[in-house]
Amino acid sequence: MLRIAHLLEAQLRAAMERALPEAAQAAGQPLDPQLAPASKPEFGDFQANGALPLAKPLGQPPRQIAQAIVAQLSADPAFSELCLEPVIAGPGFINLTLRPERLTAEVAERLADPRLGVPTAGEDAGGQLPAPVIVDFSSPNIAKEMHVGHLRSTIIGDCLARVLEFRGHPVLRLNHVGDWGTQFGMLITHLKQVAPEALTTADAVDLGDLVAFYRQAKARFDDDETFQATAREEVVNLQGGDPLSLKAWGLLCDQSRREFQRIYDRLDIALSERGESFYNPYLQAVVDDLKAAGLLVIDDGAGCVFLEGVSGKDGQPLPLIVQKSDGGFNYATTDLAAIRYRFAPAPEGDGAGRVIYVTDAGQASHFAGVFQVARRAGWIPEGASVEHVPFGLVQGEDGKKLKTRAGDTVRLRDLLDEAVERAEADLRRRLAEEERTEDEAFIQQVATTVGLAAVKYADLSTNRITNYQFSFDRMLALTGNTAPYLLYAVVRIAGIARKGGDLEGAGLAAAGDGAGALGWLSFTEPQEWALIRELLKLDGVIAEVETELLPNRLCSYLFELSQVFNRFYDQVPVLKAEEPARSSRLALCRLTADTLKLGLNLLGIPALERM
Ligand code: ARG
Repeated sequence: MLRIAHLLEAQLRAAMERALPEAAQAAGQPLDPQLAPASKPEFGDFQANGALPLAKPLGQPPRQIAQAIVAQLSADPAFSELCLEPVIAGPGFINLTLRPERLTAEVAERLADPRLGVPTAGEDAGGQLPAPVIVDFSSPNIAKEMHVGHLRSTIIGDCLARVLEFRGHPVLRLNHVGDWGTQFGMLITHLKQVAPEALTTADAVDLGDLVAFYRQAKARFDDDETFQATAREEVVNLQGGDPLSLKAWGLLCDQSRREFQRIYDRLDIALSERGESFYNPYLQAVVDDLKAAGLLVIDDGAGCVFLEGVSGKDGQPLPLIVQKSDGGFNYATTDLAAIRYRFAPAPEGDGAGRVIYVTDAGQASHFAGVFQVARRAGWIPEGASVEHVPFGLVQGEDGKKLKTRAGDTVRLRDLLDEAVERAEADLRRRLAEEERTEDEAFIQQVATTVGLAAVKYADLSTNRITNYQFSFDRMLALTGNTAPYLLYAVVRIAGIARKGGDLEGAGLAAAGDGAGALGWLSFTEPQEWALIRELLKLDGVIAEVETELLPNRLCSYLFELSQVFNRFYDQVPVLKAEEPARSSRLALCRLTADTLKLGLNLLGIPALERM
């Protein structure tokens, strides 16, 4: 409906200019019709509130201003083709209702459009190819287990990448893995002593052991000064390119990488690994650049940039440390090198127009600091944007940090296994109740899809900024705002086709020439119009997710659409209706299924035909 909204906005603006030339003159800029979706369905489709703020400057009652605008609007034949006669409500709101034949024409167009009315970013920009968007997500640390925070980043980041890709942006999905720095010094030093084979032979230890070794190494590092010194030397060896250290490092990375990949494969998530080590050759240049820009201050031996507008507890300005007093670089230096590289024009860099970082909210001040320094250093081009997409903690049902019953951190693999096992148990119970027999392959496929979909959807459907309570029972429920509920709506529509409804044919007929399509699509019932209006919101919702980066908006929309569809299907006959209602309603069923499938796909969830 965005295209219609833009048309209406232009018509309203022109009407305002004709009705109120003095106001337009005085404002020195185009008048704003303040067009918004209607606040209640009985008010129509849109409301324009632009008359109200003009009352004071014009010294006229707002209703009178609205009247003048409406008189001009009604005189515009293009407007009358779109809308019924406007209605002035309350103090001077202009309520607008689209003509039923306009809505029907929109439905016909969407039935014929594989993109369901969602334009590409290129079309928006008049055919220009948009600059790449980088989504930095997942990004676990080598030799450490991937935790639920990384799972959130993985699921949210993948969804945002999918939405941006669907809109036609060239997207780089970057896995900024923690594969560099002090942890390797510790680990290599420790392994040299306790398990040297791990440093020379692939797969000598498994990731579980590696994580345990890392924990031991960290403990020694924290209270043994000689160990600390050796570990630091190891880091220097590694960063200096010592072949043995590099080999050991490579083996350790491979091992973790394979473990991470298993999770990505299971969740059907594509990522390109470009870890912290990639930016090693650029770290010195970052510090040099900052120095040349006059931003670098040596404080207590460390290279810092003092942040503007950010002060610590004592009121002193806070520094972003970019080079430690021992000459080493840190997480912030790497992120500065990354940002510099990502915005630098190709071939020296990625030439990105937008860079998005998906991490827990705990890193907000890190990114605020990095973004500020990058901006002041001139690395972020005009018109480009850099955004941190923060999310809250994953909590158990007790509201505390998610733990296993034994009190350990939850391993992702176990968490996904449990979701699938529970989905399988639910399914077997339901099949028994419904006295259905299905083969094992069906059961496995449905349980896997539903279990993983439930985990993803539970994460995506809550506002990411708040903490989120992990509950298998809630996420697997067949009712409420859950993945099974949405999957079930798609299955229900597939069932209509199995019962003899020609869903594909309904679409194809509409795909014919516009007039022909209009000829047979015919809607009369309020439930049909409610469903149509809901279906036509898709493009607006996607545009909103694209700018605000909030997947829960898409989830709420799909949930609302399923509910409106279910109401339609429960209250209006479809297969038993007479023509042309029957075909018209089947066409709505098909468009609903296609919209739900597209939406689920953007959430990273495959739809099922039966469940
Ligand atoms: N490895 C980090 C962590 O586990 C996340 C990295 C996020 N991306 C970035 N460019 N800093 O917390």
